[in-house]
Amino acid sequence: MSNEIEVDNEFTVYFDAKLENEGFARSMVSAFCLQLNPTVSEISDIKTAVSEAVTNSIIHGYANKKGKIMINVKIKANVIYITIADNGVGIADISQARQPFFTTKAKEERSGMGFTLMESFMDALDVRDNPDGGLIVSMKKIIRA
Ligand SMILES: Nc1ncnc2c1ncn2[C@@H]1O[C@H](COP(=O)(O)OP(=O)(O)OP(=O)(O)O)[C@@H](O)[C@H]1O
Ligand SMILES: [Mg+2]
Repeated sequence: MSNEIEVDNEFTVYFDAKLENEGFARSMVSAFCLQLNPTVSEISDIKTAVSEAVTNSIIHGYANKKGKIMINVKIKANVIYITIADNGVGIADISQARQPFFTTKAKEERSGMGFTLMESFMDALDVRDNPDGGLIVSMKKIIRA
């Protein structure tokens, strides 16, 4: 989603796929985004989307086993591009997985709304196979003046 653009500011981190790192990931991304002076609502949207994607990598991608998650955030003018990648099991049918209420963990009280939330809170969502195995979720958020 953002590979060809020349960016103004960027960071990349790798961290362990553990549920205790979900809050850290969410706060780190939102702290970086503050430089665009987003509204409380815009920051809240970004936190929710990051939280959903990171949680998915931990519980679905790695099934709570060992693994790494990569987050890259790019800022270009007033647009934020967030990429969250894992090397977990990946998704066989991505368009089915993106449907509201689709979940493979209904027994564990998952509602199947993660991708739907990401899609509605962000301005664009792209989900694709990771060429190295696993999943890449890319999102875009426009910070409106
Ligand atoms: N990173 C991932 N790796 C492997 N499978 C994934 C990944 N992210 C999502 N999935 C699959 O896509 C399905 C839909 O994900 P989604 O986040 O929309 O719902 P959920 O995680 O099941 O429920 P909720 O997010 O509401 O708790 C998941 O049930 C899982 O099968
Ligand atoms: Mg989810």
